[in-house]
Amino acid sequence: MSWRRQSILSAGQFSARDLEEILNLSGKLETALKNSRNLKLLDDYVLATLFFEPSTRTRLSFEAAMHRLGGRVISAVGMQFSSLAKGETLFDTLKMVESYSDICAIRHSVEGASSLAARSIRIPVINAGDGAGEHPTQGLLDLYTIHRRGYLERPQMTVAFIGDIKYGRTIHSLVQLLSHFKVNLVFISPRELSLPEKYHDLLKRAGVSYSETEDISALREAHVGYVTRIQEERFIDHREYEKFKDAYVVDAELVGQCRKDLIVMHPLPRLTEVSTDLDAHPSAVYFEQANNGLYVRMALILGLLDINY
Ligand code: NCD
Repeated sequence: MSWRRQSILSAGQFSARDLEEILNLSGKLETALKNSRNLKLLDDYVLATLFFEPSTRTRLSFEAAMHRLGGRVISAVGMQFSSLAKGETLFDTLKMVESYSDICAIRHSVEGASSLAARSIRIPVINAGDGAGEHPTQGLLDLYTIHRRGYLERPQMTVAFIGDIKYGRTIHSLVQLLSHFKVNLVFISPRELSLPEKYHDLLKRAGVSYSETEDISALREAHVGYVTRIQEERFIDHREYEKFKDAYVVDAELVGQCRKDLIVMHPLPRLTEVSTDLDAHPSAVYFEQANNGLYVRMALILGLLDINY
């Protein structure tokens, strides 16, 4: 079954062929946007964005993507401003969304919330982040960024993940997507924030070579360094967060000791884990990565609505 007309709930749902199609379509849309501000493909279509957790890039790029395709957007942002604050259930909220829109993107603090949403309504649902679960569309734009830089096609490539690998939902999604390619993965984190068991199983089943370490000097071997924020909002005990929040800092000095062709990625927002002294460095691709979200989300919206381009 192709990825078209489905909901997007987990990065695990995509086949290698789906990924090839999504990367190609995103590339076509990136090129098309250079010549036109509005592709006028989705006249009369409505996207609903339901964001019950903080977001900047994800929501804005979904909304910009819909606008650039010529569609319209309605949105409910923040629990406190929707009827959920009055005690309405997510199910009842969704039932409204189903009749007001053709497709919806949802972010929620509860793992599995978007799967529940997809089971409750008939329009395609996009998981825009479910707690410490997954963030598949971020994973896809990360993959697109690696591909656009020509790294995905290399015969031997090492991706190092740094930071909060336990709670970092973007990592959980990207790891599954990368398992379709010839890659070597290195997970750099405090032991307490290491890769959850289910992703170990997945990588083993896929035959991906990987290793784990607490030592950030492992970044030296990598072609791609994917840095993440320690996810403060997921910690039950705030003292634990305090212990780990400054665990790693990737700065110009460290990058100077790494491969010349290293690229440094980050899903953003960043705190201190990527130093601003790296921003002007040729290795820094995190702003380009955020930009790419627009093209990839355009591609996904078109696919889910089954509009050919
Ligand atoms: C990420 C998220 O929400 O998981 N942000 C994003 O969507 N770009 C990463 C994070 O919040 O640390």
